[in-house]
Amino acid sequence: MTDRYDLIIENGIFMLPGGAADVRIGTRHGRIATLDARGDDAEQKIDAAGLYVLPGLIDPHVHFRDSGNAELPEVETLETGTRGAVLGGITAVFDMPNTSIPTTDSHRLRVKRDSICGRAWCDVGLYVGASKENAGRLGTLEGEPGVCAVKVFSGSTTGDLLVEDDVSIERVMRSGRRRVAFHAEDEYRLQARRRLFTSSRDFSKHALWRDSECAALGTRRIVALARKTGRPAHILHVSTAEEFLFLTNHHDLVSVEVLVNHLTQFAPDAYERLGAYAVMNPPIRDRNQVDAAWRAVAGGLVDTVGSDHAPHSHAAKAKDWPDVAAGLSGVQTLAPVMFDQVQKGRLSLGRLVDLMAAGPARVYGAVGKGRIAVGYDADFTVVDLKKNRRIDDTWLVSPCRWSPFEGERVTGWPAMTIIRSNVVMREDEVLATPIGQVMTFRS
Ligand code: DOR
Ligand code: ZN
Repeated sequence: MTDRYDLIIENGIFMLPGGAADVRIGTRHGRIATLDARGDDAEQKIDAAGLYVLPGLIDPHVHFRDSGNAELPEVETLETGTRGAVLGGITAVFDMPNTSIPTTDSHRLRVKRDSICGRAWCDVGLYVGASKENAGRLGTLEGEPGVCAVKVFSGSTTGDLLVEDDVSIERVMRSGRRRVAFHAEDEYRLQARRRLFTSSRDFSKHALWRDSECAALGTRRIVALARKTGRPAHILHVSTAEEFLFLTNHHDLVSVEVLVNHLTQFAPDAYERLGAYAVMNPPIRDRNQVDAAWRAVAGGLVDTVGSDHAPHSHAAKAKDWPDVAAGLSGVQTLAPVMFDQVQKGRLSLGRLVDLMAAGPARVYGAVGKGRIAVGYDADFTVVDLKKNRRIDDTWLVSPCRWSPFEGERVTGWPAMTIIRSNVVMREDEVLATPIGQVMTFRS
């Protein structure tokens, strides 16, 4: 007897949890129904000959500058950010709360959640921001639909969200039980060192100011509080050898994110080439730190890789250091730049899937995401690993109109993005309507 599916994907190399395999996937009602659709038929068939089929890649770290209403449409919106995501082969994003109106209460979460249907091209999870005021309510807020995690800024960066002292961070950690995500640079050292440097257009000062000790101190403080409270933590954008070494002893409780920028860009080169467009928090550091990040990837310490997509206007980037806005756009380039690293032999495709699909799903508890398996969402990133392309501005869609990777050639390009059986991107074209949904997380 033949079965009928909504979609069959065939002839590709499929990256299953156990490795590359030759299967024939059938999907029904947006989910993977079988890995063995041989002899069966479907409404739509995709011939993936010559292509790799990965579980839908997730960018667990984006700042779309959209609190439910676009606050800076000339920089980014939920609509443009998610369009960039699907063009870049990303099927889901987790959006940060540090908008002008921060996402810190139930009302703001609802407004943001309600804005997703009809505007988002990919699926979306939402961070709820921690503050000294809402610390006691975070246990309830983290259980709201669509919430991927509580986000704590324990070092200051774009926006006003800041919980810097141990007493307040401990209150946050004692409210609720899910894994808490941290921007962990140490605020006290940041403030103390800022006055050591004079204003200028030498943007490499950024890495001297926010030195590796700022990051290491901050991470050590968060880990100590995680141990004290027993609360699992996720340290975002870990960027120093010292942090990686330290975290190897705490991986039972504390998971680790690395950013694509910290794997591929280094000082002084990045500051010389890009100037203000290399300024981000934590900063781009020297080659030794980049090598340490790759060792942590190879050794299995790193759980997730994200873009920290944080676009700013050209005007905000035109300011002198230290007034220049910190943050780099990247959701659209994350996957191609990481595919290029696979081609360069820096990680295997299997490890990329672990870091960019299985890892985010595991760390944040995303339901139905992160692997090609029966019953999981039919989300796929289809990749041409041989395609060599230049990242140019005609392809980039962010209204901010710049990327630190613009002009670079990469090998490996997303051919198709499929979300819950819907082909939303094919050969650089975004198709149909924005079908992105609010994601579900295990509470
Ligand atoms: O460089 C950064 N930019 N780091 C952050 O932590 C925040 C982000 C932003 O929102 O601009
Ligand atoms: Zn960020």
